[in-house]
Formats: sequence, structure tokens, C-alpha cells
Amino acid sequence: MTVRIRKAVFPVGGLGTRFLPATKAMPKEMLPVVDKPLIQYAVEEAIAAGIEHFIFVTGHGKTAIEDHFDSNIPLQVQLQKEGKEDLVRFLKDSTLESGKISYTRQSEPKGLGHAVWCARDLVGDEPFAVLLPDDLFHCKVPCLKQMVDEYPKTAGNLVAIEDVPEEKTSHYGILSLSSDDGKMVKVNGMVEKPAPGTAPSRCAILGRYILSPEVFNELDKQKTGAKGEIQLTDAMAETLDKVPFHGMRVEGKRFDCGNKIGFLMANIEYALDRPDLSEEFKAALKTLSF
Ligand code: UTP
Repeated sequence: MTVRIRKAVFPVGGLGTRFLPATKAMPKEMLPVVDKPLIQYAVEEAIAAGIEHFIFVTGHGKTAIEDHFDSNIPLQVQLQKEGKEDLVRFLKDSTLESGKISYTRQSEPKGLGHAVWCARDLVGDEPFAVLLPDDLFHCKVPCLKQMVDEYPKTAGNLVAIEDVPEEKTSHYGILSLSSDDGKMVKVNGMVEKPAPGTAPSRCAILGRYILSPEVFNELDKQKTGAKGEIQLTDAMAETLDKVPFHGMRVEGKRFDCGNKIGFLMANIEYALDRPDLSEEFKAALKTLSF
């Protein structure tokens, strides 16, 4: 069966407190890795996976994201006058086609599950992708594309996973596995942020999901879980007896840009990978003492 994943949800309603004061007036998702905001990496990944409609769940103070994906005619005209066609291309590359993008607001940041639930009417009754922009994947084949390619074999719910050290399991949604072939795992349970020493495995859910619309029936119940938030993991767990659930180890490197070390590491990796920067940057790094 061919299942096309046409719509992607980008939850961007969180407070980003770990990056204060940078995020006092600027969305966390607009933090740049080298020279591109995190949210643009996620959108480009979705485009590469064949996504046709982009649904942003925003909140207070997030309008910079809407402006970012709109055109900026005065700037474009100015750059064209100056003959800076390469910069004009950057502006065009980050402009999404009218009608292909929707914004809905999460009136309060009540958790990731609540943010996804806010997109229910825009998604409708079809499987859809969710991308958390603070998980940045540096992959030869973009992460969501790898998942979309596997999805016809699994259907149901499919999440990207990574094996994390025991002491980090309490930071993630953790899966309980009924089988594991090294790449794909079949899931029979999951728990959000298990207390230290209680995790059912070291298999952590990352910020890429393909979800069956069944999850909205559970999110409708608005049950709160870990940290008093409406957790996506809890709603997905409730669908386990209704739809198959798989996790996939994707090929590539993941940076958790929601925390400072991950964000700094991503900047270094992406700068070293840039032909226009890498040599000069390597030389500059060598002048640091540590
Ligand atoms: P995080 O768990 O990193 O939370 O959200 P946060 O509020 O953004 O950041 P900190 O922990 O305070 O620093 C992961 C993703 O889910 C979105 C965030 O915007 C981010 O993209 N999110 C989270 C929502 O859209 N709504 C929420 O209520 C919570």
C-alpha cells in the first residue's frame, strides 16, 4: 500500500527557557546554526521528504517565524538593485508558497501533546509528520525522508529513535521493545521521562514522528502526565492496541539544539561542513586555548 505523507506539523509554541535571555523576545526555533534558523532546517527536511503542507503551532512571541517564511519585497528589491543575486536566492529559498502553510496558535504551552492536538483540524484524517525543530539531524538522506521511505512497511506510528546512556533516559520518552532488528524496533510500551533507574530500555524517542490520526482521539482527552503537561508519548501509548508502533534508528547524526551543548556542537559541525567556511574556521579554532 502506498501511503503519502502530505502534511507536517511543526510545534513551535514552547517557551525555550533553557536559552534565556536569547529567547526573551525571539523564538528558540529562530536560533541560527551558522546562518540558518533551526526552523528552516526542519522545513527543508520536510520538503525533501515530499511534504506539501506545513502546519505551524505557534504561540505568544512567535511571529518572527511567520515573517521568516514570508517574502520580504523591500529587501529583495534592494538586493536586486545591488546585483546580489546570491542573497536574493536565500530570501526566495526561505519563502513558502502561499496556501501551503498554515498557522494555528497554542494559547498556552501545555505540552507537546497539546501542541500537536492544536493542529487536529488542519491535519484531518490522514497520517502526518511531526518535526521538532530543536532536534537537528545531519544526515546524507534527510531524516524524515528515511522514515517516509520505510513507512509503507510499518504504517501506524513510526518514530525516530536513538540509544541514549542510562543516565539520560529520564530526559526522553523511552520505548519498551518487543523486537529489535538493529534498525527497526517494534514497540509494546513507552513512558515519558522515566525516573532514573526505571526506564524499560535505553531507546529514546527523538523529534521526528509519523503518526496515525488515531492519536488525536487520545489527545482529545487532554490527560496530563510528566511535568503536568499533556504528553504526546502518553497519547501514543494509548493507541498501542489500535495501530502498530515502530521506532527507527536513522542514519546520521542528531544534535539536541534544545540544550546549549548540543546547539554549540551543531554550530561547529555545520560550520566545518561548509566549503566556504571550514578552512578558515579550523584555523580560527586552533587559536583557542582549551
Ligand atoms: P521543549 O520540550 O524543548 O520545550 O519543546 P521548550 O518550552 O521549547 O523549551 P525549554 O525546555 O523551556 O527550554 C520541544 C518542542 O516542542 C514545542 C517547542 O516549541 C519545541 O519546538 N512545544 C513544547 C510546543 O509547541 N508547545 C509546548 O507546550 C511545549
